[in-house]
Amino acid sequence: AIIMDGNGRWGVKYKNSRNAGHREGLNTVEKVIKSSIKQNIKYLTLYAFSTENWKRPKKEIKYLFDLLETFLINKIEELHKKGIKLKIIGTKNFSKKLNELLKKSEKKTQKNKKLQINLALNYGSKNELINTFKRIKSKKITENKVKNNLYTKDTPDPDILIRTGGKKRLSNFMLWQLAYSELYFLDKLWPDFKPQDLRKILKNFYKVKRNYGGI
Ligand code: FPP
Repeated sequence: AIIMDGNGRWGVKYKNSRNAGHREGLNTVEKVIKSSIKQNIKYLTLYAFSTENWKRPKKEIKYLFDLLETFLINKIEELHKKGIKLKIIGTKNFSKKLNELLKKSEKKTQKNKKLQINLALNYGSKNELINTFKRIKSKKITENKVKNNLYTKDTPDPDILIRTGGKKRLSNFMLWQLAYSELYFLDKLWPDFKPQDLRKILKNFYKVKRNYGGI
């Protein structure tokens, strides 16, 4: 799972525009998808828009969603051919047009098996947990019942969390699911993240012994 932070700073630094950073960030997304397939990763969860991101200027929000729309319109066929299953996690309360496009993209790719991409859009982990608890009707709440009612019910918990951009925080991202994940915080801004960085992290990850509280 990846918190793709640092687009805005990258854009301001190199192009004098936060939105230019988002554009470049999307290029990194495409490279990371290709690299994930090469590395035989089966699930990739990307934090693209949080429930808190609505606080941003309207123009930036519009730019981000226009970017997503264009991306899906132009690339969904290619993703489909590569065997990618796209799943949106979060509440779909966007424009009617985008909601439809998201649903159509999910439906088209739902049987694909090569790589599942969970795109977190209007996603907040606390919100997800509240909805989960509300859905569990019985008084007896168990770990399995919670797991089976999360947006990520069909996804194993992430082995790895990567956050770029230099901040060491989770920003309301997958609080339940990350309980035992290995955490990697990088100073690099997201548009500067390279497939080589992913390979390095994986190499390190495979060396880590995971005890899950045991010894
Ligand atoms: C965080 O950087 C990034 C986002 C809030 C948006 C993530 C979007 C992309 C990577 C591109 C679009 C992706 C798709 C799938 C269309 P920030 O803006 O918070 O950076 P900052 O901390 O430097 O301000």
